[in-house]
Amino acid sequence: MSPLLTRRHLIAGAAGLAGTAGVVAVAADRNTPKLVNPRAEAVRRTELARRRPGAATVRATLTPRPVTLDLGGVTVDTWGYAEAAPGPLIRAKAGDLLRVDVVNDLPADTSVHWHGIALRNDMDGVPGVTQDPIGAGGRFTYEFTLPNSGTYFYHPHSGVQLDRALYGVLIVDDPNDAGRYDQEWIVVLDDWVDGTGRTPDDVLAALGGNVGGMHGGHGMNHGAGMPIGGGELESMMSPLLGGAGDVDYPHYLINGRVPAAPVTLTARPRQRVRLRLVNAASDTAFRVALGGHRLTVTHTDGFPVVPDVTDALVVGMGERVDVEVVVADGVFPLVAVAEGKTGQALAVVRTGDGRPPSAQVRPAELDRRVILANRLRAAGSVRLPQRAPDRTHELVLGGGMMPYRWTINGKTFTNAEPLLAREGERVRLRMVNQTMMFHPMHVHGHTFALRDGGPRKDTVIVTPHQSVTVDLDADNPGQWMTHCHNIYHAETGMMINLAYQP
Ligand code: C2O
Ligand code: CU
Repeated sequence: MSPLLTRRHLIAGAAGLAGTAGVVAVAADRNTPKLVNPRAEAVRRTELARRRPGAATVRATLTPRPVTLDLGGVTVDTWGYAEAAPGPLIRAKAGDLLRVDVVNDLPADTSVHWHGIALRNDMDGVPGVTQDPIGAGGRFTYEFTLPNSGTYFYHPHSGVQLDRALYGVLIVDDPNDAGRYDQEWIVVLDDWVDGTGRTPDDVLAALGGNVGGMHGGHGMNHGAGMPIGGGELESMMSPLLGGAGDVDYPHYLINGRVPAAPVTLTARPRQRVRLRLVNAASDTAFRVALGGHRLTVTHTDGFPVVPDVTDALVVGMGERVDVEVVVADGVFPLVAVAEGKTGQALAVVRTGDGRPPSAQVRPAELDRRVILANRLRAAGSVRLPQRAPDRTHELVLGGGMMPYRWTINGKTFTNAEPLLAREGERVRLRMVNQTMMFHPMHVHGHTFALRDGGPRKDTVIVTPHQSVTVDLDADNPGQWMTHCHNIYHAETGMMINLAYQP
């Protein structure tokens, strides 16, 4: 995603930002509302209010760079944060200050976005909006308070870099939550193409997509839509999600491994295990089940839910789901089926003796009770208090394959009017999907609530021809990208700015 600048609202050259040419919101013409600059006093004040006396500072370094990865007999040249996917685990406690030095060893601009964190706007990692891109050979230090516990992740907000190995997990521990489980397994799902003869940029070009940003002033090209994967697209349908994706991937991964050479997750029989599931894929939702077990869903997108027991669950791109399970004695397949596509990812759960499952194993749980995180209920402690919205924005999700172009309210990001908000308001977003494809819609910097006691989330699946309404408290001033977490949809236009006015 390289949103760059919305044509009329975010114009280069903010005054008073020495050394940061090209950043931030400045009204471009008389009819344009004035917007809160990511470096504004309001942003600093909000960050200061999050600071806690005596909070620790957690430090990390990320070096995005060209790497060669062994996915388990499949060797690929790609870009990553480490010699493995996912990148380094970053772990801190709620209230801590996180300080991450990014050293860009890529031959391209990059950025790091902290997905799901209600952080200070100038650290949100969106080039052209909240910061300048980190150029090849350049550095940037991210520093912000982590207000809420939960399972989060980080990735670039530059082009389709997310579809490489540029992702990692960020866990914010709740000091009061310790000891509720005996083991923790972090399970990262991904769809993989890079280094198999195509790069993600090749995939984007083959789809016929043009970036929704303004790359050197090139105009949009509305022609040349060319499906990839031959007849594959017709068959990519899911009864649960409708159209199940645009890209046919050669591999699906759990923790960077293909099913032929899976990771093994170990525990002792009858231990209580917390699984933190993160979908870091670019175009694939996964249906997840653990053979021989039912799963108790405890959190989604970092926030607790009323525990819900299920056989399987669907995790959209950008969503996280935490589940607990008391493991039986033996060897069990943890399977993540590419929903509506052909293929799956696998990890092996081992608590005792037994033969490992085959790469094609298909546990019966996958076809029993299956839930989307939308159906969960917020835990009482995180329910958003009832309040009438001060304003309601409608987001009509449009677009399609021919030409390959995805829109919100009929416009691609570069041409879109921002969704305005003011600090202190209750803002309602009504997302209306008029397409044949599902869209995991993500709002930066906020955790919205689904209606009528639904879960708190930052990424929610909107299925074809359905709508989802969410409410949020506008308590984090700045400029916040709101977009589909299908990276190819976001990059070709399905993104808009939730823009605070002073
Ligand atoms: Cu993980 Cu703008 O997103
Ligand atoms: Cu989408």
